[in-house]
Amino acid sequence: MFITLEGMEGAGKSTLLQGLHKRFQAAGHAVALTREPGGSHIGGALRSILLSPQSSLANETELLLFLADRAQHVAEVIRPALADGKVVLCDRFADSTMVYQGCGRGFDPDLLYTLNDVAVAGLWPDTTLILDLPPEEGLRRAVQRNKTLCKTDDEGRFEAETLTFHTRIREGFLTLAAQHPHRCVVLDAQQSPQRLLDAAWACVCSRMAAKRC
Ligand code: TYD
Repeated sequence: MFITLEGMEGAGKSTLLQGLHKRFQAAGHAVALTREPGGSHIGGALRSILLSPQSSLANETELLLFLADRAQHVAEVIRPALADGKVVLCDRFADSTMVYQGCGRGFDPDLLYTLNDVAVAGLWPDTTLILDLPPEEGLRRAVQRNKTLCKTDDEGRFEAETLTFHTRIREGFLTLAAQHPHRCVVLDAQQSPQRLLDAAWACVCSRMAAKRC
């Protein structure tokens, strides 16, 4: 089963991912925990370029680097893990490109879908959990997190975007969820981490049961 987590910065994806990882393990599943950008061997270098505030990237370069990162990640990490029977939990995937490079940077959604399909080589997630919260709150949490982890200088390029940009990102994820109701579930990221985990776990359990039927 291939599960992706999506949402704006500061939505709590990493915390939720750790919680889901523990629950899957407790239920006896082997799990591969991964993320984009940066999930593959060469992905670390691509991540530094993509997220550094020092990188001055043309929008086209940014788009193609995210796609290159994804193509390698699918080939090297995700597809082999699924073939081994693992549950794959991935922090961000193709929907981030649809929303950030589409609604954020203005690329045509049909073009992005086609390019994504090349990068994933037909491998789309079974379930996508979209963590939703007001952009002001997400940005506040993300800026605080980056300060605490001293990441502002190396990974703050998207957090430095305007509130208008992040408002478009939120709307983009909600629109995408409405377009793919069988794959995407929107979860309220303002509830407590424990309640969010319970809601996400209930959702993936029902999806897994439906997949077995
Ligand atoms: P990261 O620190 O991994 O995530 P978060 O801040 O959500 O914890 O940052 C990844 C950034 O890259 C995030 O701002 C979204 C952006 N991004 C894209 O613009 N396009 C993409 O295809 C992906 C995967 C991420």
